[in-house]
Amino acid sequence: MKPSDPPRLDRIPAGIQSAADYARLARTVLNAVTWRYLHEAGGRGLTRAANRLAFDEVPLIPRPLADVRNGHTGLSLFGQRLEHPIMLAPIAYQRLFHPDGESASAMAAAAQGGVMTVSSLASQRLEDIARAAQQAGGAVWFQLYWQGERARTLRLARRAEAAGYTVQMLTVDAPVKLAGLELPPDIGAVNLEQPLVPAPLRAGQSAVFDGWMTQAPGWDDLAWLRDHVRGPLILKGILHPDDADRAISLGCDGLVVSNHGGRVLDGAPASLTALAPILARVAGRVPLLLDSGIRDGRDVFKALQLGASAVLLGRPYVWGLACAGALGVAHVIRLLRDELELSMALCGCRTLPAPG
Ligand code: FNR
Repeated sequence: MKPSDPPRLDRIPAGIQSAADYARLARTVLNAVTWRYLHEAGGRGLTRAANRLAFDEVPLIPRPLADVRNGHTGLSLFGQRLEHPIMLAPIAYQRLFHPDGESASAMAAAAQGGVMTVSSLASQRLEDIARAAQQAGGAVWFQLYWQGERARTLRLARRAEAAGYTVQMLTVDAPVKLAGLELPPDIGAVNLEQPLVPAPLRAGQSAVFDGWMTQAPGWDDLAWLRDHVRGPLILKGILHPDDADRAISLGCDGLVVSNHGGRVLDGAPASLTALAPILARVAGRVPLLLDSGIRDGRDVFKALQLGASAVLLGRPYVWGLACAGALGVAHVIRLLRDELELSMALCGCRTLPAPG
């Protein structure tokens, strides 16, 4: 493809060989504001950089001569059979990136034998997104943001359950929204009720402690939610072993070791670095998923070798979405699967490493 050719949004662009190629193309397709939103990092970007460094420092040790015939990347997670461990992370407002939005991503994940977790901040009706995945023969999971209070949160969770979402993933690492994105008028969080307005601050009160944080969930709320959500409940945004332990003792069925792609607390450790101490504390009681910084199939393999059961892919699938809709997302997943299979074969693994 010549650089002057505008990319087609309905076919796989020519010459793409990796997710990084999609990143380069997506930068030319998306407007500057949307690109910045997708790539923003907290503070000085220390955590985002740490995420990459952590992956780059893990060596892959070749194990030639191993018999890897009949190898595969399949696994079971929360009672679901998946063809591979590369799930799509919840990412808000996907109609910003492509008119087909979350439905395209969910359909691509399902068509590739995997699963997407749909954000509370999705820009399409969650029933429609679920239908797109189901038509492609797969399931969807739902990412729940606490809605300021219990009744509102449960209404959203129940709606997702009714629409067929099989797992709920409560994200707990982003209770304070520091930077607001100015959305185009036709794109928004269409599944949410009107936001709760915090009580006006009195003199001397803090906008954080007495404002936003009054709407954040606490451990009691988590225990309550666990009692009310019917299917598996997993917690996203855990980096401390004590929090992992407490979440499991309250009945959480899994954890996502994540720093939100470095977007929230700059200075938080790379999620890959945080994995080992959490793994040691969890001691196999629940599956650990991991995200933040995964850019290719070798990274996926490294995360699994270090004990994750599966990974969530963030920005890279949005590059595919921006360039070619559902086909682009499916292609990104396929590229990472191919790289994962190659890494496994070269490292002498017929099947995925057993979770830690
Ligand atoms: C996110 N992420 C996110 N997480 C979540 O639980 N709910 C959400 O609505 C969003 N929205 C969102 C928007 C954008 C533009 C990005 C880039 C990320 C975080 C996401 O689920 C995941 O944790 C990170 O994206 C993983 O890091 P990488 O793969 O992007 O480095």
